[in-house]
Amino acid sequence: MKEKKKLKTSRKVRAQFPFERFFNIVDLTNFVLFPTFLALLNRVPFLSLPTKPFLYFVGSAILWYVFAERVVRSNRYFHLHSAYRITFFSVVAFGVFANSFLPSLGDPSLFIKMTPIFLSVSMVTVLIGYQEGIGSGLFMSFLASSNLDNSLETFILLSVVVLSTALTTRHIERRIEIARAGFEVSLVFMAINAIRMLLQSEPVKPVELLIAFANPILSSVIVIGIVPYIEYISRIYSDTGLLELGNLSHPLLKTLSIYAPGTYYHSISLANLSEAAAERIGANPILSRVASYFHDIGKAKRPQYFTENQQDGVNPHDNITPSMSNLVVNEHVKQGIEQARKYRLPLLIEDVVKEHHGTRVKKFFFHKAKSGGMEERQEEFQYPGPKPRFKESGIIMLADSVEAAYKSLKKPTPAKTQELVEEVVNGIYNERQLDKSGLELDDLEKIIEAFTRVLMSMNQPRIEYPKENIEKVVKANGDNDTKRDGKTDKSEETD
Ligand SMILES: [Fe+2]
Ligand SMILES: [Fe+2]
Repeated sequence: MKEKKKLKTSRKVRAQFPFERFFNIVDLTNFVLFPTFLALLNRVPFLSLPTKPFLYFVGSAILWYVFAERVVRSNRYFHLHSAYRITFFSVVAFGVFANSFLPSLGDPSLFIKMTPIFLSVSMVTVLIGYQEGIGSGLFMSFLASSNLDNSLETFILLSVVVLSTALTTRHIERRIEIARAGFEVSLVFMAINAIRMLLQSEPVKPVELLIAFANPILSSVIVIGIVPYIEYISRIYSDTGLLELGNLSHPLLKTLSIYAPGTYYHSISLANLSEAAAERIGANPILSRVASYFHDIGKAKRPQYFTENQQDGVNPHDNITPSMSNLVVNEHVKQGIEQARKYRLPLLIEDVVKEHHGTRVKKFFFHKAKSGGMEERQEEFQYPGPKPRFKESGIIMLADSVEAAYKSLKKPTPAKTQELVEEVVNGIYNERQLDKSGLELDDLEKIIEAFTRVLMSMNQPRIEYPKENIEKVVKANGDNDTKRDGKTDKSEETD
């Protein structure tokens, strides 16, 4: 009976394969259903189809693939979390509807001036990336121009606005910079509309130009108001949102600073290292810095089990078995993930918490178990992983080990520091922990360089106050002041 049941279920599973072989539902959605839905949405305010519906829908599908789908497929984050695709699609759908609905309310002569193309292009750019902003913007320009006159001229005019929006909102770090971008794009929008009027020998209409000027500025106000909601819901953060999280007043970081001060300072040093390395290889330095702050938040629960928080040589691992130590250390990753979810930290920061030890073996506890005569397998002492799946995560894994190793280096010199950094980075590379991170050998060389530079600058000796000068001052001020200066010197030494 049992075998019959098993056979039935295996048949059932096998029956799904031919269906899947003919078409993949995910690809069908991405290539056909998405653009068709957007093309239909674009026509909702008009309650009609364009004059050449076949060309319109086929054109939409092709341009969606060329401008948007190809770009998002090359974005590593889209392969990690479906939230990226859902957010991208929702923001574009919102933009498509706004671009057709608002102009449909006004006179046809105001059509282009009332198209709020700044709105969704800037949102996609700040939340996801500028290439995705340009790609989706060009697709939206096609849909918007098909609503007006289907002309190449309208498409090009809107494309100029798309490009200027993506470029001005590309490296936004403060919300006010979105307003500044809105103002700059307003000037561009007004200027190209004025040029168009002049080229077509039309009289220049100041009211129309004023509408074109107000459009991106008003859109920027909506963007500033709406982006924090999208960040909270999707857990996809703009650089501005990340910087707000990274101002060290976050409750998780405050808890860490109180209960695990050693980990807190380790995280800050790590942030300096990973930020410099990310900058050097063209990854995201803001994400690297902020994710470093949060990478060990799980240690706040049992801080004394981690070397950096141990005082007076008391190590609780001495009183428990290596297997138990293994579990306790693993727990900081699990705890960190729970906290990241509870506080709705960005998805990529949760990934860093998960991945910063990859699947590395806790060699110390493994050897302790072996030397204690226990028959433990090496795999049991591995961190749960996964291995880093994007560049910033790989950098943080490297920086984490480098920072810990550097602390044990006596009398560091540039040569000794570089040797240590190389050893640690090569070790992790040879363990194949970076296979999925997207980091190339070329990147690793630059990362080693950046780490060495930052470690050496962190270890800069204080500039000594010239002794000769002190003696001169002492002599000039007499005996009473000598005592006072002597005290000052001591405090300098112990500082
Ligand atoms: Fe950790
Ligand atoms: Fe760490």
